[in-house]
Amino acid sequence: MTSDPKSPSLSLDDLDRLRNEAESEFSSIKNDADAETFRIKYLGKKGILRELVKAVRDIPAESRPAFGSKANELRVHFETRFEEAPWKAGAIEAESASFDPGLPGFPILQGSLHPLTQIRNQIRDIFLSMGFTVSYGPEIETDYYNFEALNTPKHHPARDMQDTFYITENHLLRTHTSPVQIRVMESMKPPIRSIMPGRVYRNEEISSRSYCLFHQIEGLYVDENVSFADLKGTLLAFSRRFFDEKTKIKIRPSFFPFTEPSVEIDVECFLCKGSGCSLCKHSGWLEVLGAGMVHPNVLRNCGVDPEIYSGFAFGIGIERIALLKYGIEDIRLFYENDVRFLKQF
Ligand code: PHE
Repeated sequence: MTSDPKSPSLSLDDLDRLRNEAESEFSSIKNDADAETFRIKYLGKKGILRELVKAVRDIPAESRPAFGSKANELRVHFETRFEEAPWKAGAIEAESASFDPGLPGFPILQGSLHPLTQIRNQIRDIFLSMGFTVSYGPEIETDYYNFEALNTPKHHPARDMQDTFYITENHLLRTHTSPVQIRVMESMKPPIRSIMPGRVYRNEEISSRSYCLFHQIEGLYVDENVSFADLKGTLLAFSRRFFDEKTKIKIRPSFFPFTEPSVEIDVECFLCKGSGCSLCKHSGWLEVLGAGMVHPNVLRNCGVDPEIYSGFAFGIGIERIALLKYGIEDIRLFYENDVRFLKQF
């Protein structure tokens, strides 16, 4: 801004120059902030156009009327234009007029596999390399597959271990991937070696530790002479490939209606290597899966003769492993799809 409205030498030419300058600044307004800057500079209480009208007093008497009316006209002109300006209607035309095709584009975010998918794939690949196949079953199951065929008749107290979402009296959201064992055994003859990944649902209170849905990988091995030693060897080999090649496992007795004997398997804490830390609650061990020898009743329900065949089964919680492996404190983060969380994996 070169014109100084307070200068005693102000002339009509100065007003023309001022008009041109204001005009060019007005037309380069691109957003609300520019508009506000313009308003303060020209139209505000101390703005140039207001000061100009006051400056009339300092003009020599003979040119005062002409200068005064021109200065006034200038102020009214810009006040009107400002009032009618396009940004008042919310559409800033200047914005599109200023589009610069030479500017670099917005960066394109590269996606990645969800952490649960990554863990599932790692577990799956280890079992594939041991000769297991992959099988799938439906998420809406019948009471028969989810419970009955798994040696859990109605009113069996073990049904309380899994709070179930019922859809009808007979249909439910599967509470575990074990019903896929039944479907696999019904559809193929031993030897069977298969893993069954999938989503499961439980009507549990939602908290940082539990959610109404989660993921499991079921495993099933049925053949002649499958023993508990095979179960132990397979899961030890898996743990050593997945966690650490020196990982130890601990087998504790447990109960599931569809396996006998039933066990729960803890792996040595991979963070502190067994010496005790906050991850393993200072026990040195992490609980990672349930397993056992397939109950003879379950084999019988699927037309597999328990006098000839035996088998083992196990179920791994994918969220549980992911929480441990990545040190995540809240299971709900897996389902919120917040990019700030997801892009860390
Ligand atoms: N289905 C069991 C659960 O969800 C886990 C399991 C699978 C246990 C296979 C034994 C054998 O808790």
